[in-house]
Amino acid sequence: MSGKNIWTHKGTFLLAAVGSAVGLGNLWRFPYLTGENGGGAFILVYALTIAVVGIPILIAETLLGRSSRRSPIMGMKYLTESHGTSSAWQVIGWMGAGAAFVILSFYSVIAGWAIHYTGLLFSGALAGADAETIGASFGALLASPERLLLYHTLFIGASGLIVAMGIHRGIEGGLRIMMPALFVILMIVLVYGVVVGDAAAAMRFLFTFNLNDLSLEGWLQAMGQSFFTLSLGMGAIMAYGAYMSSEASLTRTAVSIAVVDTLIALMAGVAIFSLVFGSGMEAGQGPGLMFVTLPIAFADLPGGSILGGVFFILVIGAALTSAISLVEPVAAWLLERFDLSRPVAVAIMVGGCWALGLLTVFSFNVWSEGTITHQWFGRSPFDVLEFITNILMPLGGLLIALFAGWALTREDVIRQMATNDRWFSAWQFLVRFVAPTAVAFVFLRTIPQVEG
Ligand code: PFF
Ligand code: NA
Repeated sequence: MSGKNIWTHKGTFLLAAVGSAVGLGNLWRFPYLTGENGGGAFILVYALTIAVVGIPILIAETLLGRSSRRSPIMGMKYLTESHGTSSAWQVIGWMGAGAAFVILSFYSVIAGWAIHYTGLLFSGALAGADAETIGASFGALLASPERLLLYHTLFIGASGLIVAMGIHRGIEGGLRIMMPALFVILMIVLVYGVVVGDAAAAMRFLFTFNLNDLSLEGWLQAMGQSFFTLSLGMGAIMAYGAYMSSEASLTRTAVSIAVVDTLIALMAGVAIFSLVFGSGMEAGQGPGLMFVTLPIAFADLPGGSILGGVFFILVIGAALTSAISLVEPVAAWLLERFDLSRPVAVAIMVGGCWALGLLTVFSFNVWSEGTITHQWFGRSPFDVLEFITNILMPLGGLLIALFAGWALTREDVIRQMATNDRWFSAWQFLVRFVAPTAVAFVFLRTIPQVEG
């Protein structure tokens, strides 16, 4: 394969994978799940899962991408054919692309809320507002299909634009500007949170480990979150891995991605909980933690309008660098398979995702109760999409672990990993036995919710 389809620098895969990993999962989902599940104990299980399940699968998924040098769907076809293994494994590519499609459709809607809040905070509209007013304004946003649709369109359009510009000019170029800027913003928000908020309470909450605080449900959510946060099982990492330099170390890169992603989640947690506790509020607010509780805190803090606006820019930027990694696997497949130009392939992917996102948009208003999806699934469309996420991501991760652990040959893996036997054996043990057991555990617990 020519250099045309390889990242410009040896380190670009790391940058791109960190861009994919760091997103709403770190800034929105991690804090509210931690808040709902008692703090430190949740973080302990989460970190443990990242280490023994997340990192090995991250290595495996990157390895599949780099050894095939194709988009996930075509790559799995190539790998199964060249290894003479069952074509059933090709489901990994299809499921990943399908999951990426579904997840992007609602990721974009939620990221769109951050666009709304950026405007709301910078304009000073929330300054001094009380909790009730701010809660009501979130309700009003969700009740407006027009607004949600506008933000969803803007966000997904921006993601498409970047990917349509190509992997070098668009994705690499965009990341090289956005990632450092996002890091600087996060540092500003963190310092602000620690200075004006109650950092001591935040640290106590996040770093007091008492496993008795954690329900079985909390365990499972911690494990599910470790997949989501590392972007596993959806072809994003595989697609980016296809462009990875053959010289970069798989193991070192995977560990770096996991460490950076976890540190950023923790930094966001410290900033957010310092502000929330400093304003005398509680941690267990659920998904509204970022969109209601945090704006309430910003509303009565000095400089809160500006810093709040800056914080939501961070949310939009982090979500954007993740969204482009969801566009790429499907677009790359359309491009390869049907010989389309990149802009056309991206337009098809993003257009389809935009349309699917309408389900999420309408689930908050027009369709909220007693509607078709309620009759079909007993859940709102948004819940259905979340549920698909919780099934497809761990399942994709499980299959990747099994394929890399059992179907690839020792020589393939050792060559790709450029490692010694001891590390290879440790990795192989983790992907063959530990990761599948852990995923099966999450999975068995999630399935009964279909009827629930
Ligand atoms: N890892 C992203 C986050 O934490 O927000 C979400 C994500 C992006 C999941 C890309 C999956 C993916 F393929
Ligand atoms: Na993440």
